[in-house]
Amino acid sequence: MRVRPANRRLGILLSGRGSNFEAIADRIASGSLQAQIAIVISNIETAPGLERARASGLTTAFIPSRGKARDEFEAEVVGVLKQHDVSLVVLAGFMRILGATFIESFPYGILNIHPSLLPAFHGMDAQKQALDHGVRFSGCTVHFVDQSLDGGPIVAQAAVPVMVSDTADSLSARILKEEHRIYSEAIELVLAGRCEIEGRRVLIHE
Ligand code: GAR
Repeated sequence: MRVRPANRRLGILLSGRGSNFEAIADRIASGSLQAQIAIVISNIETAPGLERARASGLTTAFIPSRGKARDEFEAEVVGVLKQHDVSLVVLAGFMRILGATFIESFPYGILNIHPSLLPAFHGMDAQKQALDHGVRFSGCTVHFVDQSLDGGPIVAQAAVPVMVSDTADSLSARILKEEHRIYSEAIELVLAGRCEIEGRRVLIHE
């Protein structure tokens, strides 16, 4: 199945620092990624990423998740994304697992970035998991989101070496640099209609 988003309008979801969001915004500002950030949504009111989005004049929404059933929260988020005519949802450090309500509303229309070479080290603290396991290389993965945890078809990956002297922080910083590069590249591939899903594989067309 060829993925062909109807437009280049992104909806960014974040829960924290927002450095991936900023890297994407920078690429758009410099003209190297052709896209519009239609809205930035956070489930955490004080998320630094949300603050930065507000400060840079983007449309933002704080949608609390606490105390709500997952379906209710997701229906609200999907409603806001649709209202803003978003065709690609970009999870950028959004620390909630998405359920069926959300995923079925954007079939192959949601990307996530994860700080490991999936399928290794899914879930929380992926960089520490990699360090504790003793791997020589780790990295990051951009993938389409489906019902599995960090398990959807992979669009892009980048590897980095793990040094003997690494801490979780130093490894995270090395990986983050690559995250900032490959996320925008993967978004461009999807928006340009170059991705075809074939089972678990994503074929990239010219
Ligand atoms: C990034 O390292 C991202 O890969 C990770 O959270 C960080 C968010 O940083 N995401 C996950 O672990 C998802 N399972 P940011 O807020 O500075 O973009």
